[in-house]
Amino acid sequence: MAKIIDGKVVSQFVKDGVKKEVEALREKGVSVGLAVIIVGDDPASRTYVNNKKKACEAVGIISEEYALPEQTTMEELLSLIDRLNHKKSINGILCQLPLPKHLDEKLVIENIAPEKDVDAFHAINTGHIMIGDYSFLPCTPAGIMEMLKYYDIETCGKNAVVIGRSNIVGKPMAMLLLQKDATVTVCHSKTANLKEITERADILVAAVGKEKFVTADMVKEGAVVIDVGMNRNSEGKLCGDVDFSQVEKKASYITPVPGGVGPMTIATLMKNTLTAAKQQNAKRIF
Ligand code: GUN
Repeated sequence: MAKIIDGKVVSQFVKDGVKKEVEALREKGVSVGLAVIIVGDDPASRTYVNNKKKACEAVGIISEEYALPEQTTMEELLSLIDRLNHKKSINGILCQLPLPKHLDEKLVIENIAPEKDVDAFHAINTGHIMIGDYSFLPCTPAGIMEMLKYYDIETCGKNAVVIGRSNIVGKPMAMLLLQKDATVTVCHSKTANLKEITERADILVAAVGKEKFVTADMVKEGAVVIDVGMNRNSEGKLCGDVDFSQVEKKASYITPVPGGVGPMTIATLMKNTLTAAKQQNAKRIF
């Protein structure tokens, strides 16, 4: 039976560290501020934004919410981002995705100042990740790496398989595992013979968006299974991409949903916002 990787415990550990540093900065007269933009009233996005605001409060980061109506224009959104890019008390800017269809997500991301891009979605920041020289890492993959470290899970020389190739999770996840000396395979919707690849994985990361996509027959005995999925089942209950009750019998470690990767994403956002504040105030701190 697999050991549970407890995202609540690891995220608390990360947030405790952030909180201490935020307090130390405050004693030096430096505050840490995060702007959270939400456009429209998608219920899932509203929940994520509320959780991010709660986490800010818990670690002493000042959060400012900008809730814009569904019909907001590109011009209005870019004008807000420009204002926040120049606002001294704001160190990080997060625009909750997905945006309503009429808005251009790529253009929105490219207009956030890279030094305030605490999601690490800007092309400059993704480029830094590619060469292994970065300030911020995308919150979900970095949170997963933090969990592996906390549980002392070796990545060096291991076969890691990532299912999913999104810019937010799959691609950066592969890059971070590669930087930690894993041999990485990225699978996606067009991958042939998926099971043949996943059953060789020592570390299997599922970021697909489909309930019970990863079944026990796809998993190697003793594998570490990381579930990034956030799906709703037929009863409306939150569930991941992995058939947890069957896969936990085969894996050595497994993340649950909820309580696995989700809390880590938010903890990393807190860490990135702190990093942004330290960089922007470097002359005042040292
Ligand atoms: N939507 C789903 N995940 C994320 C995230 O990590 N950041 C932002 N900005 N939007 C998201």
